[in-house]
Amino acid sequence: MTNDQSAVTQLHSGETPEWQQAGVSHIWSPYTQMKTAPLPIPVVRTEGVCLVLEDGTRLIDGMASWWTACHGYNHPHIVDKVTEQLHRMPHVMFGGVHHEPALRLATRLTKLLPGDLNRVFFCDSGSVAVEVALKMAVQFWLNQGVRGRSKFLSFRHAYHGDTVGAMSVCDPVNGMHAHFKGFLLEQFTHGVPHTEQEFHALERFLGERRDELAGVIIEPLIQGAGGMKFHPPESLSRLRQLCDRCDVLLIADEIATGFGRTGTMFACEQASIVPDVMCVGKALTAGTMSIAATIATDRVFNAFWSDDPGGALMHGPTYMANPLACAAANASLDLFESEPRLARVAEIEKGLAKGLEPCRALAGVVDVRTKGAVGVVQVAELHHLERLRAALVAEGVWLRPFSDIVYMTPPLTISDRELDALCSAVHRVMNRWGTW
Ligand SMILES: Cc1ncc(COP(=O)(O)O)c(C=O)c1O
Repeated sequence: MTNDQSAVTQLHSGETPEWQQAGVSHIWSPYTQMKTAPLPIPVVRTEGVCLVLEDGTRLIDGMASWWTACHGYNHPHIVDKVTEQLHRMPHVMFGGVHHEPALRLATRLTKLLPGDLNRVFFCDSGSVAVEVALKMAVQFWLNQGVRGRSKFLSFRHAYHGDTVGAMSVCDPVNGMHAHFKGFLLEQFTHGVPHTEQEFHALERFLGERRDELAGVIIEPLIQGAGGMKFHPPESLSRLRQLCDRCDVLLIADEIATGFGRTGTMFACEQASIVPDVMCVGKALTAGTMSIAATIATDRVFNAFWSDDPGGALMHGPTYMANPLACAAANASLDLFESEPRLARVAEIEKGLAKGLEPCRALAGVVDVRTKGAVGVVQVAELHHLERLRAALVAEGVWLRPFSDIVYMTPPLTISDRELDALCSAVHRVMNRWGTW
């Protein structure tokens, strides 16, 4: 063993299964200090909205596996479609080859998306979708003979992924990539504008620096991993206007917000805007497997349309447009068509608001906010994160509080009873502990 097992406490009280005992010293977990972190929870099955542990314990998954499992787990329609595809063709390269699941998915996505977001570039994860969006924006200008426009403006509290380009547009100070200053490209950062003064300052900035700027990138309506900060649709619609006036591309990163999470299929709809480029991922395959997409408007795509091979977009992940993932995504879109998901999000929003309201009165709580199927309890300070997580697990719920927030992004199929259990567990645990 390379780490001191005795220094860590198990998050749940069950036995450590044999496979975990054997494998724990060979695995490197995400965002984790491996020496001090407790052993992760051994999940052996998923059912409905629950994670089932080796010892049979069921935890309501309040995070939908990082915003992905929008229809809950193991939905029979998705399972059937992926199984069918697995037998027919699990994978084929996408360079020089087309296949039905990908082309059907691209057609369906472009019909669902606002405006003329008509060209879909598939890739393998959200971070890569952001990389592709940044490359698209930079080359958009180069292909038109405009040099020097290679920087981006992003926002405080932004999070766009963990690859190098994506890291460069995360919040450079408060974000999780602050260590890497000097290694990352330097970009521009502003607060998300709310007031007239802030809009004017941003417009001035865009006007002054537009010859350096390829684009502006934002997570529409909800900034996720940077602290679950919300902004109103108006901030977004006015940002669109500013980008138009200053002729800067607008990239909407809908990787977390897409597919119903904020109450509409895509958050941009609430501001009635069409970004120049949009990134989607996470719930695209409804928590089945990894795929993402970067989608461009006609204007952006047309800048790549020429007789010059050098003007092509030079990107192509090996598992691009993986047929299994496309089958899962198509099946997920079937469910959005046949089941009342968005109506359910409106009910979840009310349920979260009601269920979390009592937290407002607890010591240390500074804000309770909800938007679509996202609920957030923000505290002044959150110490002992691991103890908090363990206490929530003991109450039968799976959540991963971070920074100064306890947040929920449950599957959109969660029942009233399960939602109530989730909110009550959060209230009970936070009440017991007082100030975290
Ligand atoms: C807004 C946003 N963009 C990009 C990403 C990165 O996606 P992935 O983890 O699939 O690389 C995330 C992941 O949390 C995200 O929330």
